[in-house]
Amino acid sequence: MNNLLLKFMRFFPPEISHSLTIKILKLKYSSQIYDDDPSLHQHLFGLDFRNPIGLAAGFDKNVEVVQSLLNLGFGFVETGTVTPKPQFGNKKPRVFRLLEDQAIINHLGFNNYGSKYAENKLIKLNLNNLSKGIVGINIGKNNDTNYAVDDYCLGLEKLGPLAHYTTINISSPNTPGLRDLQNRGQIEVLVKALRQRKKEQPNLENKPILFKIAPDLEEEQLRDIALMSLANEIDGLVISNSSIDRPSSLISRNKNEIGGLSGKPLFIKSTLVLKKMYTLTNGQIPLIGVGGISNGIEFYEKIKAGASLAQIYTALVFQGPKIINKIKQEILSCLKTDGFNNIKEAIGKDV
Ligand SMILES: Cc1cc2nc3c(=O)[nH]c(=O)nc-3n(C[C@H](O)[C@H](O)[C@H](O)COP(=O)(O)O)c2cc1C
Repeated sequence: MNNLLLKFMRFFPPEISHSLTIKILKLKYSSQIYDDDPSLHQHLFGLDFRNPIGLAAGFDKNVEVVQSLLNLGFGFVETGTVTPKPQFGNKKPRVFRLLEDQAIINHLGFNNYGSKYAENKLIKLNLNNLSKGIVGINIGKNNDTNYAVDDYCLGLEKLGPLAHYTTINISSPNTPGLRDLQNRGQIEVLVKALRQRKKEQPNLENKPILFKIAPDLEEEQLRDIALMSLANEIDGLVISNSSIDRPSSLISRNKNEIGGLSGKPLFIKSTLVLKKMYTLTNGQIPLIGVGGISNGIEFYEKIKAGASLAQIYTALVFQGPKIINKIKQEILSCLKTDGFNNIKEAIGKDV
């Protein structure tokens, strides 16, 4: 997608542009996948990542264009959020561009086709046929579910075996009560139930389970999550989701829309949480950094703040897929400047 196409997309409301983009990617966009520089390779969660750049959840909600996205150069793609039953999500309009701030506010509310649809797509995708890439599945709960744990267990049971890793999304701001699952008592119940399910199901063996948290957590909540993660040997944490905060720096006219803020204004906040979590977990739990990355320098900052891998979303919307290669080149030059032979050596260096 070139700059012209990006400009053209901006003529449409965000959700229309998004579905047009998915349609374009469905045309089986296939470019030659070049091997990434070995200094970007990493073995993590028992998986081989050819580069550390991931696409964050919410872009390919229904597992429709994973291979095309990997062909663009991503090292890994996190699909979803998928809920057990299909749901429409919140009333439209529910996605807003904040162009001047290079940000987005969304209150989509887990619009998706449900887990049966995603299951069929993942079966068709077939991890063994997937060329050069890792696919994660991000799961959530339906809006009308009373007992959230059942929804997550069901998602893990059906979709977990079909992806390389599963992310438990307990941090989207657009499903009432969802973020309460991050509180001490609730998260522990959830973690234990998922561990039990994993133990009972042989095809989930060696499948890492990660938890995605919010950038708006209090110090004490972060501490609780860190302790709980260490005690329960959680495989990894994704830090962070979009924010309900509205920094005073925002200038776009859409700044007061309801929902989660993503993009540039989220960078400092989410990186701070990442850094804190790296410290609180003594660097013992792999972290995926996400929030506000718009270039390779910022990507590298996430790594130095403690992330082993990092993801982007909003910057892809504003800059198009050329950002992926640009980030790679910029990371390589940062590694060279710092005298590191592999990205792994830079993890947590600022903490
Ligand atoms: C339109 C939109 C939809 C999103 N949907 C999801 C979602 O379904 N599940 C999820 O875990 N995160 C979702 N996110 C959050 C992103 O995965 C990411 O955590 C957040 O946008 C911060 O990264 P960024 O600043 O690079 O965009 C969504 C973000 C946007 C902008």
